Amino acid sequence: MIGQLKNKSLADLKLVNSLDSLEEWRVNYLGRKGELTKILRSIGSLPDDQRKKIGSESNLLRVLLEDQYKKIKPKLESNLSVYSSVDITLPGRKDHIGRLHPITSIIREISSAFADMGFNIVEGTESEIEHYNFDLLNIPFDHPARDQWDTIWLDRPNRKDNLLRTHTSPMQARIMENTEPPIRVITPGKCYRYEATDSTHEWHFHQIEGLVVGENISFSDLKGTLYEFAKRIFGSDRKVRFRCDFFPFVEPGVDMSIDWKGDWIEILGAGMVHPKVFQGVGYDPDKYKGFAFGMGPERIAMLRYNIEDIRQFFSNDLRFLSQF
Ligand code: DAH
Repeated sequence: MIGQLKNKSLADLKLVNSLDSLEEWRVNYLGRKGELTKILRSIGSLPDDQRKKIGSESNLLRVLLEDQYKKIKPKLESNLSVYSSVDITLPGRKDHIGRLHPITSIIREISSAFADMGFNIVEGTESEIEHYNFDLLNIPFDHPARDQWDTIWLDRPNRKDNLLRTHTSPMQARIMENTEPPIRVITPGKCYRYEATDSTHEWHFHQIEGLVVGENISFSDLKGTLYEFAKRIFGSDRKVRFRCDFFPFVEPGVDMSIDWKGDWIEILGAGMVHPKVFQGVGYDPDKYKGFAFGMGPERIAMLRYNIEDIRQFFSNDLRFLSQF
């Protein structure tokens, strides 16, 4: 009899899902007119042989049920307080989901255009040494081209040649030192220059460097690759212009401009890798040829999205950033 009551009361307890149904359960089993109370009350009138057994069983059951009751009540109460702190009658609100920074998106877009052409993507170090940032790129100490790159030097104990890279070109040398041709790679990343900022100059910005090296690479490979890139990013009928330019690490060197509302806007520098750069990394310049290019994703994003001031990219102004 007590065993049955135990099973029934515990099964009923499993169905309890609110403070009200818990109270109902308590009244049913432990209340003054409850089933267990009735049994407990009748113990005195039971024959001697049953009194002891039923008495102790029903007392144990009472302790068990009271225990269960005490355990479950606070749980239901705390659920209630969660619900009561949420006003379910309030209208829904839009979640604020983050988004990619416009520079990150444009770097990814450019990277995927080159990845489709078989390029690998490698990132490099932002802290460099003179050797890679200048010397191996055919920019010796006394070369006037060093003036073009106003450099932020790092103050390291025992090192006087440590700097924040002024361009991503040092990665050309680092990659060639560690790889055998053929090479087809781009390296996006951050660069730094010690200069006054204005609407088209920032002291920190990004570049995407490209390098292709092989036995039969020619200037027409350079043009074909960069035409394809321009088409992908600016549309297939975009006019593109190459002009001669000078960069110490290429020969010949060019810059590439795109037609932008009737004006030519320069978007990158490029050229055939200079034989001295090949020699510096231990490549035979008679055996290998290659081309390199470097572009600024900020400039490209400014054209794409009609942004007039480069400083907006890093001003952390949500009114600007949430437009992308
Ligand atoms: N590093 C150059 C700069 O910062 C850009 C550049 C020009 C990179 C020509 C190249 C290149 O690889 O061939 O202005």
